[in-house]
Amino acid sequence: MTLPADAKPVPNFVVDLAGGREITSVWVNELGGTTFSLGGEEFVKVYPDAHADLLVREEQRLRWAVAFHPVPRVLSSGPGWLHTVALAGRSAVDPHWVARPRTATRAIGEGLRRLHDSLPVADCPFGPPSWIPADAPAADLLVVCHGDACPPNTLIGDDAQCSGHVDFSDLGVADRWSDIAVAASLLESDFEPGLEAEFLDAYGIDADEERMAYYRARWEE
Ligand SMILES: Nc1ncnc2c1ncn2[C@@H]1O[C@H](COP(=O)(O)OP(=O)(O)OP(=O)(O)O)[C@@H](O)[C@H]1O
Ligand SMILES: [Mg+2]
Repeated sequence: MTLPADAKPVPNFVVDLAGGREITSVWVNELGGTTFSLGGEEFVKVYPDAHADLLVREEQRLRWAVAFHPVPRVLSSGPGWLHTVALAGRSAVDPHWVARPRTATRAIGEGLRRLHDSLPVADCPFGPPSWIPADAPAADLLVVCHGDACPPNTLIGDDAQCSGHVDFSDLGVADRWSDIAVAASLLESDFEPGLEAEFLDAYGIDADEERMAYYRARWEE
């Protein structure tokens, strides 16, 4: 997951969707997928054919979650692409927030707690994220998890509060510690060492080292 170094070729259908607005490639992922901004007003994710199913999963989950939490509203989609309305705020790994690691960390922790408190488990049609084994330990608390709770998927507004989340192809019901462990473990590489306690405090929970180690290991497998 990287901020793109070079401009990527822009597919023709993205040019059509832009309708004259400026097209910027803002993100290239590990699967070769690219996210384009259309004048900062809308975004289009374009994935290689081999991974197009992930965007189908994401669209289903966004259409469900948008009623409960700030997530991208789907405008249109097609094979291997997904077009959404821009949420307010900058990604937590934007240079603006990387220069303010403690503030960003608090927003990530509070934002994850808000996501977990807002999405209704009883109403959620999606099972656990794909990377969580069926024989995971008994849950501390089942919530609707983001499923890919890495810092870049949290957006932070100018008021330094979480303004929403993106990237929902793995949303589903699981132990809250699966999301907490992933977010906590990536703070060091995305920001700096020593932020975990601040993150857990912002979320409002004491560390559960055993569950964090379990989910961290599954995530890294
Ligand atoms: N609707 C949106 N509103 C605001 N920002 C968005 C939106 N959609 C995408 N972005 C921006 O584009 C980036 C990439 O989007 P996203 O995380 O969904 O793509 P991805 O390729 O699936 O990511 P990953 O590298 O985690 O696989 C986000 O971090 C965010 O900055
Ligand atoms: Mg992402």
